[in-house]
Amino acid sequence: MSITITHPQNSKITTQAVIRTKNTMYALGIFADRFPVHLYYGKKSRSADLTYRSWGSAFSPYYPEYGDSYMATTVSSEFPTFGMGDFRAAAIRVRDLSTGSDATEFSFRRMKKYKGRVAINAPIYGELPYAEADENTETLEMILDDAVTGCELHLYYTVFPESDVIARHMTLINKGKTPVSLEKCMSLCLDIPDTKYGLDLISTYGAHARERHVDRYKLSYGVHRITSRRGASSHMENPCILLCHPKATEERGEAYGFNIVYSGDFLDELEVDPSKKTRVLIGLGDETFSWRLEAGESFTSPEAVMTYSAHGIGEVSRNFHRFTRDHILPPEPFERRPVVLNSWEAFYFNIDGKLMEDFAAGAAEVGMDMPVMDDGWFGERRHDRAGLGDWYPHPSLFPDGLKAFVERAKAKGVKFGIWIEPEMVNPDSDLYRAHPEWALAAPGRVPLESRQQLVLDMGNPAVVDYLSDSFATCFKDVPLDYFKWDMNRHLSPVYSNVLPPERQKEASFRHMCGVYELFRRLHALFPNAMIENCSGGGGRYDLGMMKYSTQIWCSDNTDPVSRTYIQYGSTLGYPTATMSCHVANHGSSIEDPRKLNYGFRVALNGPLGYELNILGASDTAKATMSGQIEEYRAYEHLILRGDFYRLLDPFACGRYAYYFASADSRELLVTYLQNHGDPQKTVYTLRISRAIAGVTYKDTISGKTFTGEELRKGISVESDTEGLYAVMWHLVAE
Ligand code: DGJ
Repeated sequence: MSITITHPQNSKITTQAVIRTKNTMYALGIFADRFPVHLYYGKKSRSADLTYRSWGSAFSPYYPEYGDSYMATTVSSEFPTFGMGDFRAAAIRVRDLSTGSDATEFSFRRMKKYKGRVAINAPIYGELPYAEADENTETLEMILDDAVTGCELHLYYTVFPESDVIARHMTLINKGKTPVSLEKCMSLCLDIPDTKYGLDLISTYGAHARERHVDRYKLSYGVHRITSRRGASSHMENPCILLCHPKATEERGEAYGFNIVYSGDFLDELEVDPSKKTRVLIGLGDETFSWRLEAGESFTSPEAVMTYSAHGIGEVSRNFHRFTRDHILPPEPFERRPVVLNSWEAFYFNIDGKLMEDFAAGAAEVGMDMPVMDDGWFGERRHDRAGLGDWYPHPSLFPDGLKAFVERAKAKGVKFGIWIEPEMVNPDSDLYRAHPEWALAAPGRVPLESRQQLVLDMGNPAVVDYLSDSFATCFKDVPLDYFKWDMNRHLSPVYSNVLPPERQKEASFRHMCGVYELFRRLHALFPNAMIENCSGGGGRYDLGMMKYSTQIWCSDNTDPVSRTYIQYGSTLGYPTATMSCHVANHGSSIEDPRKLNYGFRVALNGPLGYELNILGASDTAKATMSGQIEEYRAYEHLILRGDFYRLLDPFACGRYAYYFASADSRELLVTYLQNHGDPQKTVYTLRISRAIAGVTYKDTISGKTFTGEELRKGISVESDTEGLYAVMWHLVAE
């Protein structure tokens, strides 16, 4: 069992719960049968210190009956509330609408543990995405209530022992007689004791075509907020963060990881208080959210996740990778992940049925599995100024219809995929002309455009119904195998025409619920098809999207040099199995063997694809690509399911090196990528810690052999005087 509940004798802590995963331990207690306090999170150990402490100090409010033995602002709290003595950032703030008071307090009632987990119900449309349980999953549920408002609070700790992950969420039920408003809703709080050296924060930030660049800095006193107000996790922000000892490396030092299974406005709030303790809060972005609960109604937060390792940030990443593969991603739709050939960078909007059939034949000729017809096939969509929202095939492009066209394309011996962008509408579209009120826009203000498009209000059930009906009709009997679901603008202003004024701050969350509902309906309509998520590249690279998408288009930036940075950053929190990596043709780079080889080596970091006009490629380039696909197939099991170790950080040295290890460590795939030439050759040592001592490994690429000891000490690689230089080792135990 992962969870034990005890009732210590002669202690201020009247109930204690301890959660154990494979390598970690988490402990909480109930102070005086009333307040949930945090006791420990770290390495699994019998000697872990679970002592409750209140470091009472002047100017700290207290309950007269407890004096300085419980001062809310000086204890480690499990779920701090607003306005009742804790001056640090709160996890929950509930406004009593009958009095206007925000003073929020909950008292412990009971806790229970059980096998499995509860679903996360959304207030509209069914469910939010959450991690699937397996036979090892257990849940601790704590129930608290508030005598003043009558609200009940349920805190859930769902334990995934094998990946060292604990998932957390909360449900607030208004069991009172008058309405309340949930003004701040976090899913997870962790109070970390002061460390002698402080903690580093590692996060990723970026822009369109520059996603997930890594930032690492020492957290100093004060509040640090990483948040998205864009209605999407976005290219600019990402909810996954790591905290670690300032000297922690890939393989050494304490590190924590946090993330949320949600794709909309999120908030990662970190506060280092004056006593140098750090509070971590993960939840919904508080500036664009509030939720009104009438008597009897409830609201459930998205699920946040956390992990810990005593062995460096690499282990934290691997915990999240394993967790995402085992509990978040949908089941693999096909026997093997298809190698995609996408039409966007090949033709942009200049596509038609005949060209796409030839494209499919070109894909088949070189051994690619899935030609994808990108943007430009529907409505009046011959450019990005029109057509979004009108989901019917453009008649002149497909004279005998979509079904006959896709059947002919597939007859070339391939699967077939198509692009959609459901959440958007162009002002120049039949849909907008019929339903301007379906787009998000503030009353009396001009609807702001971005890429000539507006956002549909997915919180309006009529919009979701229209879209699912459109897709059901448009794709009826069309044998599609794949959808690329795109999203090319962010939400501002956010105002819904179907909500009353006092509920407008619900619009962003409701929108997200509608997006998830449409994903589920698309899956239900086409249960055998795979969805690849995309938002102008990797603008929604998050666990919420991963619940419904097998892979995500990592970035619109397909330049291999830029990709080394984006891919490195993406692996901090997300498994390489999700990272769709395409080889593209820049100028005529695929006709240059060095560039084609480098693009391919860089792309071997995730599921392989191509993004180029195969019809214009020379026979030599085509033959090379066929060989590449064969090579990819030999490594695919490691790339999609192996354990991933980062070795060289491109942000630090312009070189990216990493390896994959099979579960039994008997097969290793090592990659060294050098973006720029080194006028003075340098030798880098790549230490393969997973190599087994006493075992001899043969490199299937060079034919050389290495002992496990040699690999652990490190393979030496000499840099090249020219850039775009890659070396790989595929090491198999003899
Ligand atoms: C943005 C995507 O990232 C591209 O790959 C492409 O699908 C375009 N949208 C199409 O408009």
